Parts: sequence; structure tokens; C-alpha cells
Amino acid sequence: MRQLLFFSNNNNKIIEIKKIFNKFNLELISLNDLNISEEPEENGQTFEENAKIKSEYGFNKTGIPCFADDSGICIESLNWEPGVLSKRFLNNFKSNKACFESVIKSTKKNSERNAYFKTSISLTFKENQNVIFNGKIDGKISEEAKGKFGFGYDPIFIPKNYKKTLAELSTKEKNGISHRSIAVTKLINFLIN
Ligand code: IMP
Repeated sequence: MRQLLFFSNNNNKIIEIKKIFNKFNLELISLNDLNISEEPEENGQTFEENAKIKSEYGFNKTGIPCFADDSGICIESLNWEPGVLSKRFLNNFKSNKACFESVIKSTKKNSERNAYFKTSISLTFKENQNVIFNGKIDGKISEEAKGKFGFGYDPIFIPKNYKKTLAELSTKEKNGISHRSIAVTKLINFLIN
């Protein structure tokens, strides 16, 4: 079985992605399995750059083909930010609720409600050999925060052609349409072909 390192310490992501990989007879190991806790600084300007910084770091450290992901939300009324700073942007508010209120207010000011989530996955399989897989989901910012599933910005994001926020959809439903699952599917198709 082919071994592959997923450069992440995020247990929820690891469990989710391990499940998908088992179906395809690919053995996925994570940073936890190798007791690696150091991570490089994610100072790229784009999702692609940050994912590549991590996958190259993991490959150079272990010699095992390695992939890493980077995701975030881009919001029209915030000039398509926070993007790569999505996690920091949310954490800078005193609560998620305060962040959601501020985002919703910005969409009301100029009635720009478009937004999208993007994931970039970088796979480093040999020294200096790298492939990028992108996934994107278009949608809009809701008029109020709704739903209790998911994480991050899910309560204020309504996918295109839906009436509910991502946080009102079950995990299974979200995984069927999400930016992350689109990018992971592309990665798997590359690996099994
Ligand atoms: P990460 O690169 O996957 O860790 O994502 C960075 C940040 O983007 C997260 O901390 C969330 O705030 C946001 N984010 C990424 N993906 C999602 C999603 O599927 N739903 C909601 N928020 C997300």
C-alpha cells in the first residue's frame, strides 16, 4: 500500500480525510503518527502558496510524499478578504457571533453579498515536484447567522442554489458540495490513476 503523509495536526480533518483514503487503499499518516509538532510559518499571499510551504516542509523533513491544504473564505463586501487570513480574522473578534454580525453589516452597507470558500491542496511527491488541486464553492453571505453544524464561517454562508447556510446542512450534505471535498477528490483521482 502506498504511504502518504497528510501535513496537518487538526484531528477533525485527519479523521475526515483518513476515511476517504481508506476506501482507495491508500495509507494515510499524519504529523501526529510521526510525532512531528513543528510547522513552518504560513506567510504566503495565496492558499496555493501556503499549502505548498507545508507540503514541501513535510516532504523535506520525512522523505514521504506529502500533501497539505489551506482554506478560507473570500467575501465581496470585504474586498474579497479575509482569504488566507480567515482563521486570524475570526479569532480577532471577541466571539464568532461578533464576527458574523460585522460581516453581515458590511454586506448590508453596499448590498454585495457574494462570497466563496476555497481550498488548495499541494502534493509534493519528489524534491521540487509539486502539484496543486483547487476546490471552490460559490455562495452568498446570509442575512443572519443560522445553524449549529460545521465550523468557522458555516453559519453565515449560503451555497449557490441553496436556501440554507452550511451550518444548517448535515456533515454528509456539506461534504458532498464543499470546497474541501472537491479538492480532495481531485487529489485522489490523481493518486489512483
Ligand atoms: P484551514 O486552512 O482549513 O485551517 O482553514 C482556515 C480557516 O478558514 C478556518 O479556521 C475557518 O475559519 C475558515 N474555513 C475554512 N474552511 C471552512 C469551512 O468549510 N467552513 C467554515 N469555515 C471554513
